[in-house]
Amino acid sequence: MNSFKNIDKEYVANTYGRFDVEIVNGNGSLVYDINGKEYIDLSSGIAVNTFGMADKEWIEAVTNQLQKCQHTSNLYYSEPCAILAKMLCERTGAKKVFFGNSGAEANECAIKVARLWASEIKGEEYFNVVTLKNSFHGRTITTLSATGQDVFHKYFNPLTDGFLYAEANNLESVEEIFKNNNCCAIIMELVQGEGGVIALDSDFVAGVSDLCKKYNNLLIIDEVQTGNGRCGTLYAYQGYNIMPDIITTAKGLAGGLPIGACLMFEKTKDVLKPSLHGSTFGGNLISCAGAINVLSRIDDELLNQVSEKSRYVFDSLRNAEGIVSVTGKGLMLGIETIGDVSVILSKCMEKGILPIKAKNKLRLLPPLNIPFELLKKSIEIIKEVARDNK
Ligand SMILES: Cc1ncc(COP(=O)(O)O)c(C=O)c1O
Repeated sequence: MNSFKNIDKEYVANTYGRFDVEIVNGNGSLVYDINGKEYIDLSSGIAVNTFGMADKEWIEAVTNQLQKCQHTSNLYYSEPCAILAKMLCERTGAKKVFFGNSGAEANECAIKVARLWASEIKGEEYFNVVTLKNSFHGRTITTLSATGQDVFHKYFNPLTDGFLYAEANNLESVEEIFKNNNCCAIIMELVQGEGGVIALDSDFVAGVSDLCKKYNNLLIIDEVQTGNGRCGTLYAYQGYNIMPDIITTAKGLAGGLPIGACLMFEKTKDVLKPSLHGSTFGGNLISCAGAINVLSRIDDELLNQVSEKSRYVFDSLRNAEGIVSVTGKGLMLGIETIGDVSVILSKCMEKGILPIKAKNKLRLLPPLNIPFELLKKSIEIIKEVARDNK
């Protein structure tokens, strides 16, 4: 096979700092580059390939649908979309689902729903949405505005109006904003992924939920990265003592096909009405067929394995030489090393494992069904590289 790296460099927009690896195929948690070099995949397409590469059951579900009908418009009913929405509601307590194609779109929908809800219940002037500093909610102008990191805002002004940023793990900072501004909602990730794989304190999360009740604001949980089994529960909020009004999900839901979903609970279930929102590809039959397969396989057994593998990583790295700390939940993990993370990452790649970065940490997001022996092998490599490069 000929290298395609230079064609990419010439013709694809220069938005990604790509690693020097040309991936061509894979099998489960193993991927192969153009030279046939084998790697253990520790990022699964940034938390997308829930069951790894070329998973047989998932391929069968997707190709069965592909042979029947790939797409209808949202002017007609389609079975996979209806079944998937029912499954999502039954497993979360949500009442209605809107489907889009990405995490950013799911969050856009949540923001529209929050403002619509406010205009019916509190008044149109209650349009402000609170988000947390160091958060990440997407790359469209509005979800960038929601993202609480200045570094993403630079060059894109004017941003969408009506976002206010509170300190994570600081309830007073949230209350101060709720008290002094006309707000409708707060959006937060329970583990800040792009921000460095940092889990919020459970007391803070419960406190925010109470403040939402006190000020009659919606609690929106961005589960784009944390969801679909990644943190050891189907959705991360299920590991906290809260009940959200909206959750958003995407990434791993369809196991490698584009999808985004905004799940609306009791308070928000009737807010969207005909012509207020839509998406040509939203609820696409192939993506929904993939998602039905993925969701039906995220059962207690798999979730227990995710937690067990997570404990293994924490226990193995806790006092390892060259490792400062391990953060995160389930199989969404951040590893802070004494040595420079970029150096450590490239040494890891040389040795045949593919973690990624989040801020100054190595980030692990392996397929949820990564075999134990591949996880163990990967952790041994990380230990060795962290020790030798500290
Ligand atoms: C928490 C969170 N929200 C939203 C997004 C945006 O998702 P997408 O890239 O699918 O638009 C991401 C992507 O990394 C994310 O991690």
